[in-house]
Amino acid sequence: MNQKTDKIKEEIKCFRIKTRNDLETFRIKFLGKKKGIITILIKELKKISIHKRKIYGKIINELKKEAQNKIKIFQSKNEIQNEKIPKFDPTIPGKSIEIGSRHPLSIIKNRIIDILTKIGFLYEDGPEIENDWHNFTALNIPISHPSRDMQDTFFLCKNPDILLRTHTSSVQIRYMKKHRPPFRVMSIGKVYRNETISSRSNFMFHQAEGFYIDKQVSFYDLKQTIHYLVTSLFGEEKIRFRPSYFPFTEPSVEVDIYCNNEWIEIMGCGMIDPQVLKNVNIDSEIYSGFAFGLGIERLSLIIYKMKDIRIYFDNDIRFLKQFKSEF
Ligand code: PHE
Repeated sequence: MNQKTDKIKEEIKCFRIKTRNDLETFRIKFLGKKKGIITILIKELKKISIHKRKIYGKIINELKKEAQNKIKIFQSKNEIQNEKIPKFDPTIPGKSIEIGSRHPLSIIKNRIIDILTKIGFLYEDGPEIENDWHNFTALNIPISHPSRDMQDTFFLCKNPDILLRTHTSSVQIRYMKKHRPPFRVMSIGKVYRNETISSRSNFMFHQAEGFYIDKQVSFYDLKQTIHYLVTSLFGEEKIRFRPSYFPFTEPSVEVDIYCNNEWIEIMGCGMIDPQVLKNVNIDSEIYSGFAFGLGIERLSLIIYKMKDIRIYFDNDIRFLKQFKSEF
């Protein structure tokens, strides 16, 4: 009996199950209800003495377990493969993927970059976390200057020299410190002011800044550039220049466009104050320049005929996916 069971054990071990057919052959051969080798052995147990039955019963039971185990192993491996096969079926037609669309503010940003690049402006980024000097002092807004009130600021409590920039004009200073004129530069990014959130204002918004410095830049160049920018953005619109005040430009103006029977202010600009050039060691006797800054949200309200800027930051896909653009 021992020899017999050893032989069967060996046979179970060596039996190669590669296909479902092999598995069925294996099952019938060893565990088949009528003629399975192990089944027959179990039946034969009844014929032998109780003492021997105990010993052999154990051995035969182990054989049975081994055979069953082999079946289980094959099945579990095969289940994994079976799961994989239907998941990748190269014959199923492909689904087109929705690739999304650009955010409306990014579309306008890219349009401005495109328009200004055509007249020689280079793009420069600046940090959103600034220090007082770049954001205010170098721009001719010393501490306790009343014009600081126009830009209610987020300062860092622990170090009030650090703040979230209130405008992109700080990029003028950063750029002019490092480069010598002539240059034409633009920068677009987020700015922060302690404003109540409403349909027209937010504590964070986007500005586009442009500045140009050369030997003979005049107010005429500024007007031409603004006219080119505004008409490129809006088409032939009526625009007007209205005298205004910024500490870092002199003279300063604000630009309005006529839209839906009213004048809407869209940007501030002016000739860069000679003091600002001095602050960054540019000779104001030789060089002059202009600068302008405009709010992207305000522009996009006009371009897309919308009433509330908060919708730009709601992340509502139904709203966002309506904007298809080449930019
Ligand atoms: N920085 C100004 C503002 O945020 C706009 C501006 C830029 C005005 C450049 C003049 C020149 O209001």
